[in-house]
Amino acid sequence: MTSDTAPEPLEPAPLEPEPWEPVRIDTSVAHPARMYDYYLGGKDNFPADREAAEKIISTGADVREGARTNRAFLGRAVRYLSEQGVTQFLDIGTGIPSAGNTHEVAQGINPAARVVYVDNDPIVLTHARALMAGHGKGATTVVQADLRDPAELLANRRVRAALDFTRPIALMLVSVLHFITEEDGPDGILKTLGDALPSGSHLVISHGTADAVVARRRANLDQAVDVYRSKSTAALTLRSKARVTEFFDGFPLVEPGLVPGQDWRPDDDTPPGTTVTVYAGVGRKP
Ligand SMILES: C[S@@+](CC[C@H](N)C(=O)[O-])C[C@H]1O[C@@H](n2cnc3c(N)ncnc32)[C@H](O)[C@@H]1O
Repeated sequence: MTSDTAPEPLEPAPLEPEPWEPVRIDTSVAHPARMYDYYLGGKDNFPADREAAEKIISTGADVREGARTNRAFLGRAVRYLSEQGVTQFLDIGTGIPSAGNTHEVAQGINPAARVVYVDNDPIVLTHARALMAGHGKGATTVVQADLRDPAELLANRRVRAALDFTRPIALMLVSVLHFITEEDGPDGILKTLGDALPSGSHLVISHGTADAVVARRRANLDQAVDVYRSKSTAALTLRSKARVTEFFDGFPLVEPGLVPGQDWRPDDDTPPGTTVTVYAGVGRKP
């Protein structure tokens, strides 16, 4: 355990109850969170999501394997960080709750761990809030905000109330940055978030890639990307290993570096990956 991440006696922050605003959900357009839920075998998806997801599966893109690999990486990364003594998690792009959610893994190791979930999809938030209802300690907070406006996200009073920004925080951007286009300015977003975190904080990223796609399957992949662009609420930007590595600026990678998701500190439960669908890595701010 490192000295700057030593466990502190955490008292849950005194949060006001979450305002339950009426949620307007458009189920006629596919949404990445619900498509991902479908890939993982979940039930929280609608016909438009299933149709878009099936279109993608029919292109031969390895999205189901990618989703399983990614989800398993998330669990191993949270376990690794918890074992390093990290007690605060800012998980942006939470997704519809599935097996091994961040708070379950982190609080399973340290019940005092604080987790803030952030997503811009109201349906994700509805599910997440239902899961947290009666969870007890007030150490898990759910916030609606957009990664594309990191300053507003950081200023959110519920984020501020739940996390102590003078102590190390794990910033989790797991399978969300590929929904940030180059026009959205991912480097600036990461800089704003990274600058707000103190020394000893960690950055966790997994990111979809087409690096391993061979020429004959390129057209299939282009079709899959086109489905996200034309049929869902968020375009998909797959990136190379070199480009994803740039996102760790200021957060030197811990071993084994940025690797295919299945190769990041695998354990007995890690699903075998047959191809490279996502890169995964964890960096630590010196
Ligand atoms: C593929 S899911 C990943 C879920 C989870 N992190 C995991 O890896 O299992 C991507 C999530 O990012 C969310 N998302 C996409 N764009 C976002 C944005 N601009 N701001 C916040 N969340 C976003 C989606 O709503 C979805 O829940």
